[in-house]
Amino acid sequence: MLLPLASLPVVVFILLRVCGLIRNYRIARKIGLPIILLPASFEDPWWNVLRPLLPWVEHLPFGIGYWYFYTDLGWPMRDGTKTTYQLGENFILVSPTCNQIVTSYPPAVDAIFKDHRRWIRPEAFGQLLAIYGQNLISTNGTEWQRHRKITGSAFNEITMRRVWEKAGQTSITALEYTDKPEQNMTDMRAGLEVLALGVLTAVAFDQDTNLSKISSGHRQTLIECLSLILKNVFVSIALVKIKVPDKLLPKFVQRLKVSISEFRIYMEEAVLRQKQLSASDYQGSRGKSLLEAMIIANEVNRQDLELQSSHGKSTKSSHLTDSELYGNLFIFNLAGFETTAGTMTFALPYLAAYPDVQDWVTQEVDASYTTSKDNSYEEVYPKLVRCLALMYETLRVASTAPQLVRAPVIDQPLPVVLSKGIGSVIVPAGTIVSVHVDAVHYSPRWGPDVEEFNPKRFITSTRNDEDEAFVIPTDCMHIAWVLGPRLCPGKKFSQVEFVAVIAHILFLYRIEVVRKTNESENEARTRLRYLLRDKYFNGSAHLRRPDDAQIRFVPRR
Ligand code: HEM
Ligand SMILES: *[C@@H]1O[C@H](CO)[C@@H](O)[C@H](O)[C@H]1NC(C)=O
Ligand SMILES: *[C@@H]1O[C@H](CO)[C@@H](O)[C@H](O)[C@H]1NC(C)=O
Ligand SMILES: *[C@@H]1O[C@H](CO)[C@@H](O)[C@H](O)[C@H]1NC(C)=O
Ligand SMILES: *[C@@H]1O[C@H](CO)[C@@H](O)[C@H](O)[C@H]1NC(C)=O
Ligand SMILES: *[C@@H]1O[C@H](CO)[C@@H](O)[C@H](O)[C@H]1NC(C)=O
Repeated sequence: MLLPLASLPVVVFILLRVCGLIRNYRIARKIGLPIILLPASFEDPWWNVLRPLLPWVEHLPFGIGYWYFYTDLGWPMRDGTKTTYQLGENFILVSPTCNQIVTSYPPAVDAIFKDHRRWIRPEAFGQLLAIYGQNLISTNGTEWQRHRKITGSAFNEITMRRVWEKAGQTSITALEYTDKPEQNMTDMRAGLEVLALGVLTAVAFDQDTNLSKISSGHRQTLIECLSLILKNVFVSIALVKIKVPDKLLPKFVQRLKVSISEFRIYMEEAVLRQKQLSASDYQGSRGKSLLEAMIIANEVNRQDLELQSSHGKSTKSSHLTDSELYGNLFIFNLAGFETTAGTMTFALPYLAAYPDVQDWVTQEVDASYTTSKDNSYEEVYPKLVRCLALMYETLRVASTAPQLVRAPVIDQPLPVVLSKGIGSVIVPAGTIVSVHVDAVHYSPRWGPDVEEFNPKRFITSTRNDEDEAFVIPTDCMHIAWVLGPRLCPGKKFSQVEFVAVIAHILFLYRIEVVRKTNESENEARTRLRYLLRDKYFNGSAHLRRPDDAQIRFVPRR
């Protein structure tokens, strides 16, 4: 019996896969957690290409296609607590390429986020995202600490005030984006993305950068080139890596290439402008933009070093080079844009679906928010704890990331809980441990109303209404911004922006669900609630049927 020669590579491929699977299965058995066997994984690039073409696999008889579900990077978002109920809070996905430990057990989550040196974020896109220079995302260990030191000082109360002002001023433009009184979620998201990008660039760059003007020597506006790059990140990365003559590229890609170099020039100009300010301009100033603040922190660091070396001490510089400044400025935009816009896109329809929640938040807004000049960040923002609770609850039920991953640099113990009790397993170096975000956020630890949308869970009220405070309920883990030293540096930024936008909108409008023909108000809300649960991952959380929901903004004043 002779196999046709052409099928030989296929046979070899399958044999190699089977050997890989057996090898990984043996390793997984030694670790000792429940196992899910997968013939392919989202870690296989070829599978990600093939996967969308084979949706029927999931529906094969006798459940033999069970594995298909686990081969999508965003699977935890659809899984919720299903697999955790079957197998417990920790298990292993075993595929021919790799083993991946999945956990939602709080002590394990705590352990891997607490120690950024032993548990590093595995190289996935880190280096690829360093289009303009090394940055917070692309580095680890001591290098990362250097980046964190300078960038961390950029997210200070002065820049937060700027976020507050900018977001409040522009929040209405998101509603006016389409000029339509009723908006579906596709419209809504587009408007909020424009808003979020506007706030980010306004706060990231200095005040002399006009975001919506083609400055002399430029071919695109800053906002134009940046939004084109962000919406086509992967094509941009490829363009930076592969050198192809312009003539061979389609028109759109040529434009993108121009955007990539335009954005670099904008950053270079802004950095140059800041550096030309004399040292005396820095004295006592902390900078109003992220860029200014970083350059000032750099300068302060340099002066400290000079001072110390003049005293004969030697310390290591935590100074960032220009290209590292560019690298960080770019990833602030990248990491901050879809996440914040997406969270607002979920929060607004949730308010329409839960009118009692909306009343509760609006009550606070009416008591504290105003559109007049008195609306200062320092005075008003801290009072809007219900708006903040709305953000935490929105991110609890619709987190932007389905899984957060770390891998140990050397073998590490990991706390686990098994049917026979609490213990720990040894994770071999390099093995990915993935935190199942939805299983953490829908854990029964949140209480019997875990399935409900209820921002009130984050508010403690001491008897009189005035002393309300925001707290995360005890024993609950909220990891939408991660925990530990690699906490999202834009956490407060996104909170201030979200609160400003929501407060401003609720001050002026009531949000209602648009009814379909013959539908009652209640039926429409129920429909919207189901729709909001039907989400999937594509860069961040998205609704599967965004056009089936429409909301309306009814002026209140
Ligand atoms: C709702 C809004 C946001 C959410 C839910 C969010 C969530 C996250 C998460 C989960 C991570 C960690 C990923 C990991 O460790 O695997 C992260 C990292 C990061 N975020 Fe955010 N983020 C938000 C907004 C922002 C904003 C507005 C900015 C910047 C202005 C920002 C900048 C960053 C950066 C630079 C990192 C990398 C930090 C590091 O690795 O040290 N994020 N964010
Ligand atoms: C961690 O940092 C080191 C040195 O800075 C680098 O060589 C290594 O590739 C990084 N690893 C990952 C996974 O980013
Ligand atoms: C920015 O440029 C636009 C278009 O040229 C102009 O309308 C706007 O007034 C400028 N804004 C500032 C702050 O200079
Ligand atoms: C709405 O109800 C009316 C009367 O019951 C019926 O004639 C009509 O077909 C219904 N329309 C839809 C779209 O269901
Ligand atoms: C995911 O997003 C990209 C670009 O943002 C889009 O081209 C693609 O169609 C989306 N995929 C799905 C399955 O929605
Ligand atoms: C949603 O809005 C977009 C933009 O206005 C429009 O193209 C699309 O047809 C709308 N979808 C539905 C179902 O109305």
